[in-house]
Amino acid sequence: MSDKAPRLSDPGLPEHVHRKADSDPAAAKKAERQVAILFTLSALGTILFIYSYIWVHTDRFIFIPIMGDQNASQLGMGIGLTFSLLFIGMGAIHWAKTLMPDNEVVAERHEFRSEEADRQDFVATVKEQGAASGLGRRSLIKRSLGLSLGLIGLSPLLLLRDLGPLPKKSLEQTSWKTGTRLVIDPSGRPIKPSDLEVGAVAQVLPELAPGQERTLENVGKDAVLLIRLRPEEFELSPERLSWTYQGIIAFSKICTHMGCAVALYEQQTKHLLCPCHQSTFDVPRAAKVIFGPAARPLPQLAITVDSEGYLVAQKPFTEAVGPSFWERSS
Ligand code: FES
Repeated sequence: MSDKAPRLSDPGLPEHVHRKADSDPAAAKKAERQVAILFTLSALGTILFIYSYIWVHTDRFIFIPIMGDQNASQLGMGIGLTFSLLFIGMGAIHWAKTLMPDNEVVAERHEFRSEEADRQDFVATVKEQGAASGLGRRSLIKRSLGLSLGLIGLSPLLLLRDLGPLPKKSLEQTSWKTGTRLVIDPSGRPIKPSDLEVGAVAQVLPELAPGQERTLENVGKDAVLLIRLRPEEFELSPERLSWTYQGIIAFSKICTHMGCAVALYEQQTKHLLCPCHQSTFDVPRAAKVIFGPAARPLPQLAITVDSEGYLVAQKPFTEAVGPSFWERSS
């Protein structure tokens, strides 16, 4: 029989080595200060991130020899976030290595749910170790860690600023006014009833006043669909019928569900369809919703013709265009 040790023998735990901070209060105090410095550096990194985001202009560039021209704001945010995460991690590791209890503990396997006594033991151990970690006593670490974690938690909130200001009342108003001509999008040509055959559809916008510019926001709110039916096909109240002109009816193109462009017209069924969630609007019945999640019809624009025979708005929209949540946005 060989006297060699078996190959798979349990090597056991290495001998426990006591750290200086375990027995020397001065070393423990020094380690505590080092941890606090690391957490403070992390907090400074977060402050740099916030400063770069708010106060450094995005059009300012810095030349860095190896990296070339760099956007100063993004560079500052990147360095700040790196510092804040790096130093908080370093602080936590240093704290664990120098000051937290480092006794090895062996846990035997047991059933998944522990005995009640074990569970209480566990809670007691957690409390004991929490007390042993000295967090309660080491107020310098506690405060610097609180500062660091608090500022890191604040960073994502800052990014909410990118969502922009609230639109307030601007969503309730469109550029349509009494007498505004309807012009074809995108040519800008005014339109006459004779330009539209029965069954045809056209997208129109309000004619621009001299010196006025069309913004994307206005196009988003002002877009209108013109549809021509035979006058006898309408099933409208007398008032709504008076808003049409020789079989031409005008609706806001913005879906009342979530604001997509209602872009599909089925000539056979006379339905307008929103491609986003399939809301379907019945044109002869003032765009009544007959299918899908939209909660209200497309707003109708009252139209007529001016002295030169061009189609114009009789008055602005009488209700808010767009999805209902726009009305709650102010
Ligand atoms: S946005 Fe039109 S159905 Fe949802």
